[in-house]
Amino acid sequence: MRCLSIRVAGPTGVLALALSLLLAVTGCAASPDATHKRPQHTLRLALNQTEDHPSYTALEDFGKRLKRDTDGRWTIDVYPNSTLGDQEDVVQLVSSGAVDLAIVSGTQLENLNKDFRVFNLPEVFDSIDHQMRVINNPAITSDLYHSLDGHHLRVVGGLTQGARSLYTVDGPVRKPADLKGMKVRVQASPAQLDIIRRMGGSPTPMSFGEVYTALQSGVIDGAENNEVSYLTQKHYETAGHFAKTDHEIGVDYLVGGTKVLHSMSATDRKVFNQDFQKTANTHTRLWKKETRKAIAETKRHGATYNDVDKGAFADALHPLIKQYVNDAQMTKIYRQTRKKADD
Ligand code: GCU
Repeated sequence: MRCLSIRVAGPTGVLALALSLLLAVTGCAASPDATHKRPQHTLRLALNQTEDHPSYTALEDFGKRLKRDTDGRWTIDVYPNSTLGDQEDVVQLVSSGAVDLAIVSGTQLENLNKDFRVFNLPEVFDSIDHQMRVINNPAITSDLYHSLDGHHLRVVGGLTQGARSLYTVDGPVRKPADLKGMKVRVQASPAQLDIIRRMGGSPTPMSFGEVYTALQSGVIDGAENNEVSYLTQKHYETAGHFAKTDHEIGVDYLVGGTKVLHSMSATDRKVFNQDFQKTANTHTRLWKKETRKAIAETKRHGATYNDVDKGAFADALHPLIKQYVNDAQMTKIYRQTRKKADD
C-alpha cells in the first residue's frame, strides 16, 4: 500500500478529525509522525559487539534514519552481543532468510568468495580514510559485492574495523621473535593464520565470542584486534600488553538476504542504500573518537601500550600480497585500491 504524505495548513477541527480517521483507516500517517508510528517492516540485524561499541551506535542510528526516510515503512532492530549467533552462524542464517541483516568480518566472506581476501591483507590500506575511499566505492566493489547471489547474500557496504594489533598475556612484544611459541587467536581463514605465523606466533582460530574465556583459561597467550574491541570485550583484563603492530586495517560488511532486499520497493531500496552510506560516514567519525577513548580507558585499567619494530613485521608480512592476491579479479581490485591511497 502506498502512503501519501498530506500537509494541511491550519486544519479546522472537522477537517483534522476527518484526516486522522482517514489515516487511521489506511494505516498511513504524514511524514512528521513517521518516527512515532509502528514500522511496517522491521529488519533483524545480527551484531557480535556490545551496546557500547560504535557499530551498535551507528547501526541503531541507521534504523532510526531508515524509519524516518521511508515514512515508517522500514526500520531495523539491532541484536548485539551475538544473541542471534556467532558470525559463522549468522552468515548461514542470513543466507537462509532466517535473519535479515548481519555485520560480518571480511574473513567470513573470504570463505564464500576468496576475492574478498584482498581487503583482509596487510599493506592494502594505508589508513582508515584510504579504506573508506575504497570499500563503499561501487566502481571498485560492485562486482565483488554482487558475487554472493548464489548464496542469497548481498553486501550492502562496509564499515571500518580500524587497525588491528597484537595483545598478549606476557609481554611486551616488540619484534617477531618475541612471539615465538605464543598461541595467538585468529579469525578462521588461511591468510589470517599465515599472518600470525609470519609475525612469529602460533595461530589458533576460534570465534570472537570465545576469546575472553580462552585468554582467561590460558588456552591462548594472546589475540589480535582493534583497541575498541580490546576494551569492549574486556580482553585487557587478561592480556595487558598491547603491541601497536597495526598490521591490518580490517573491514566489517553489512550483508543482507537477497530475498528481503528484493522485497523492498525500488525507492525504499535506494533510501536504504543511501542511509547506509551516511551511517558508514558517521561510523568512521565515531570510530576515531572511540579508539582514542578506548586507549585511555584500557590504560586506566592497567593495560600498557608499546611500539614495535614495524620494519621487521612489515618485512615478514610483505610476501603475503604476492602469495594471496593471485587471480585477475583480486589483482584488479588491489590495483584500484592502491590508486586511491593518495587521493
Ligand atoms: C572485530 C570485528 C568483528 C570481528 C572481530 C574478530 O571486532 O569488528 O567483526 O568478528 O574483530 O576478531 O572476530
